[in-house]
Amino acid sequence: MTVVVLPGDGIGPEVMREALRALERVAPELELEEHAFGAQAIRDTGDSLPDETLAACKASEAVLKGPIGDPEFDAAEVRPEQGMLRLRAELDVYANLRPSEHGHVNILIVRELVGGLYFGAKGVREDGTVFDTMEYHPDQVERIARRAFELARGRRKRVVSVDKANVLETSRMWRRVVTEVAADYGDVDLEHMLVDNAAMQFVLETDGFDVVLTENMFGDILSDLAASLTGGIGLAPSASLSDSGPGLFEPVHGSAPDIAGKGVANPMAMMLSTALMLEHGLGRADEAERLRTAVWNTYWELRDPERTSAFGDAVLKELS
Ligand code: IPM
Ligand code: MG
Repeated sequence: MTVVVLPGDGIGPEVMREALRALERVAPELELEEHAFGAQAIRDTGDSLPDETLAACKASEAVLKGPIGDPEFDAAEVRPEQGMLRLRAELDVYANLRPSEHGHVNILIVRELVGGLYFGAKGVREDGTVFDTMEYHPDQVERIARRAFELARGRRKRVVSVDKANVLETSRMWRRVVTEVAADYGDVDLEHMLVDNAAMQFVLETDGFDVVLTENMFGDILSDLAASLTGGIGLAPSASLSDSGPGLFEPVHGSAPDIAGKGVANPMAMMLSTALMLEHGLGRADEAERLRTAVWNTYWELRDPERTSAFGDAVLKELS
């Protein structure tokens, strides 16, 4: 089984190093193959997602990816984030699972990842107006909704679908399609919620949420909010799944250029993303559980260790 490793930018290589040490411990027989991606790939090849990297990802069993992004390219024509969106689209990993678990809070955000505002028509009109458009086809909504209901069945059987149906056409269609899908899942409770209210309820009624189903941009924003309610973004992993090909596993956080290279980044989200890869990407629930337990035990023991490598060392000790 080949896993493609994309260490990424900023703190990426540092947190990836610790994740791989732990991965090699729990699943030593996996073939790990590192490829260029992100800012460094732009410097080396002019493209943040070089062809050979994309081909390797498509041929792999799973892709383990660090955060990308570099202020050097903020105003550039070619930016690391473009390669990341292309990779998500090329792998068709439309189902982005972002769990936030901590104490009594247990929210699973199911974010549509390859449509909406991120992928709709965009451009500049002659008069200087700049536009991005939110576009969805009902089929795109249906497949992510089915995923959310399936996942809810294995949990507390509650789906909150988040939209802005009082304003957006896409949201009104979203609501209609989700309601239709819900008819096939009579055992799962469905509630529709407007995104502004959802942001407030996340803070006021955090315990009330189980599965949160939403479109790409709303999911981006709400997943940072959910992470902040449950220990911070340094702890938040994600899994992005397609219907058949390899999944993509990455932390929710960014490349944190301000602390890059200092050896102080928290590798927990990268390690928990690795556990999600074992579970959802490679079908190895036992190894996933072993890694997750070691990471959480380390967290309760050390809380915020000063050094990235100290956290990694402690996880290895837990695993031995
Ligand atoms: C995330 C990130 C990305 C996103 C950025 C880096 C393009 O914020 O995975 O949440 O918006 O999807
Ligand atoms: Mg984000």
